[in-house]
Amino acid sequence: MLKNNIKHTTINTTANNPPLVSGKGCMVTDINGKKYIDGCSQTLNLALGQCNEIINKAVIGQLNKITFTSSRFSNKPANDLAEKLIKIAPEGLNRVNLKMTSGSLANEGAIKAARKFTGKNIIISVNNSHHGQTIGTMEISGKHWNIPYIKNRKAVFLSTPVNEYIENNLNKELEKIIKEHGSDLAGFIIEPIMVDAGVVAPSQKYHLEIRHFCDIHNIPLIYDEIQTAFGWLGSIFASDFYGVVPDIMTLGKALGAGFPLSAILLNEKYDVLNYGEHEITYGAHPVSCAASMAMIDILENTNILSEVKEKGIYIKEQLLSLAKNYELIKNITGEGLIIGIELDSSDNPKIADTIISKMLELGVILRKSKVGANSHVIQFKPPIIISYSEINEILNKLKYVLKIFY
Ligand SMILES: Cc1ncc(COP(=O)(O)O)c(C=O)c1O
Repeated sequence: MLKNNIKHTTINTTANNPPLVSGKGCMVTDINGKKYIDGCSQTLNLALGQCNEIINKAVIGQLNKITFTSSRFSNKPANDLAEKLIKIAPEGLNRVNLKMTSGSLANEGAIKAARKFTGKNIIISVNNSHHGQTIGTMEISGKHWNIPYIKNRKAVFLSTPVNEYIENNLNKELEKIIKEHGSDLAGFIIEPIMVDAGVVAPSQKYHLEIRHFCDIHNIPLIYDEIQTAFGWLGSIFASDFYGVVPDIMTLGKALGAGFPLSAILLNEKYDVLNYGEHEITYGAHPVSCAASMAMIDILENTNILSEVKEKGIYIKEQLLSLAKNYELIKNITGEGLIIGIELDSSDNPKIADTIISKMLELGVILRKSKVGANSHVIQFKPPIIISYSEINEILNKLKYVLKIFY
């Protein structure tokens, strides 16, 4: 007999859906046999989709070699992956810590390194940014304003760099920060493209200005590349896409190719944490590292990355022509295969949820940005292996939903 009532924790609006039981590429099937195209790579993390044969082979091979190793010994896939990441990283990022399992924990480590290096406290961040769900990362995330367990924020926030945000504003805001907190600045963290904030893709100029600011004030620029790394921009890192090199880069989501893994890449100047200062037990897991190596190998040795740009342009063109017919679509944002469909929510604050659930009924999985109660940006970030016929199927279903209901 059950001792307790079973109640699942629901973490988002789709948690009541039937569980998924199988998948291949961009397709998944639920327990009732219903098939879906995944338009958002599950938790925006599966760059190469489900059950990639090469990744699975690497995982199974590794499983039969060793279960786990402590950081006193490390393991071969972790050492190989560390070397690989340094090889492909932007120049100057030549130190790596793989001993973590989630993006939040990678950002925690980046904050520790920045504070230890500078001996100061305040991290500059951006309104509506998302850097994780630990206490430390929520402190520096710009969207959890009313959370009761965050008491003393050691962070300051710039405005979200949306459309009308011009560099004059940025400079003015930075001057104000220097005036008020100049003596206590520890670092500057940004998401190169702010997916959770509504798929906000700032200009290269914005990135360069921030790079310049960090250089002048000798504080580390931290790129949170947990959303942007490993292919969706047609490059391995957003840093390559923008041509701007940070001092510290955090990686997660796609890094483990579906298995828990995160990492911090650092310029050696900021490699200040000692052994034991940032190591999470299950970090650098040999299976996750083997999966990651296989994933990077595929990105490097196929033409998947070069096709991303074209696919992104095609999707944007189609969405923009759809926008001409439906005033409901206010704007199409993003770069590469990280695309935002901004809706006019003035008549219906729940419009994004409504469209997402109608698309789900039709077998397409999409997500929305969680900017606030009236969040209205649909995120389209499919696995980068998505085919044109899958893209067209998603677009046709979206057209159908708009035509029937709006
Ligand atoms: C930009 C960014 N940083 C950090 C995180 C936190 O990663 P995790 O959920 O793996 O801790 C996320 C998760 O969505 C994210 O999008």
